[in-house]
Amino acid sequence: MRQAGRSLPEYRALRKEGSILEAIKKPDISTEITLQPIRRYGVDAAILFSDIVVPVHAIGFGVEIEPGIGPVAADPFRSSDDLKRLRNLNPELDTPYVLDTIKGCIEELEIPLIGFAGGPFTVASYLIEGGPSRSYQKTKALMFSDRKLWDSLMERLTDITIQSLLSQVEAGVSAIQLFDSWAGSLSPSQYESFVFPYSQKVFDILGETGVPRIHFGVGTGELLSLMSDVGADVVGVDWRVPIDTARERIGSRKAVQGNLDPAILGGSWSSIESEIITIMKKIGGKPGHIFNLGHGVTPDVNPDVLLRVVELVHDFRLET
Ligand code: CP3
Repeated sequence: MRQAGRSLPEYRALRKEGSILEAIKKPDISTEITLQPIRRYGVDAAILFSDIVVPVHAIGFGVEIEPGIGPVAADPFRSSDDLKRLRNLNPELDTPYVLDTIKGCIEELEIPLIGFAGGPFTVASYLIEGGPSRSYQKTKALMFSDRKLWDSLMERLTDITIQSLLSQVEAGVSAIQLFDSWAGSLSPSQYESFVFPYSQKVFDILGETGVPRIHFGVGTGELLSLMSDVGADVVGVDWRVPIDTARERIGSRKAVQGNLDPAILGGSWSSIESEIITIMKKIGGKPGHIFNLGHGVTPDVNPDVLLRVVELVHDFRLET
């Protein structure tokens, strides 16, 4: 459950006002924030408290996270001159706090810790748009006007992503997740041509480490078979695709992760319960399903509801 922590009063108390990127730079705070939802909910894995823009922020591209908005770049990526702002990541020097947080978490945790990075496309979209977008018009304009520059940008971001993920594995994470959150804005042919080769390189190289690799995006129904072929071991899906349809598109050799709509968590318990049971029945007790939300937890979700969700999933048994 990404961002599960932010609905917790203890998260808000520790995080205080100020930039999330500054909180991420303090390993004692980040370790504690990673552990908070684990103590409350008894989930089966922890996800590192960090953000997908941490590496590009750390190398000085000029990205910040505005509360309530998300990542913003005051001086967005426009031309080949901007490639100079995307040097290689040296994780020990640029993001030592991420590695220290991982080590701190592992000392405390009895369950696996998931490390992560943003997919090159999703990070590129923030750098080009300068902030969150609905249409990805500037990103697509670049793709379709200057293929060479697009490829150079994606090559830079792919290297940075790989450098970050390898360092997280070396620091001890048990699995990695590539969040290509906004890939669903692309058609299958756009995805295949402009994104697939880069994400494939990330998964190929991470495959050499032997840790399980998870891949996720929002609104990716039409991309699922491509996102499966790209190389992950687990494909995450949002709530727009029924989980059994997703399973068919992903293929039986991979695990599927998902897919309760987080927006219904404010509804009645009986509707939440029935949605969860529908997901569990549709997957039919077959192995290779990781129950999860279809996207992140919003800040207004009642933590007691999340606890009931976890308990129901843990206690659920198919009637035989
Ligand atoms: O559960 C966790 O806390 C794990 C850590 C985590 C964060 N961001 C912390 C965070 C993870 C895994 C992410 C990934 C992330 N960040 C993604 C991919 C996953 C997804 O949701 O699709 C994306 C697209 C981002 C970029 C980003 N950072 C957005 C869109 C926002 C939300 C802005 C808002 O306030 O609504 C952020 C900020 C952010 N990153 C928060 C957290 C807990 C919330 C804001 C805060 O506490 O300041």
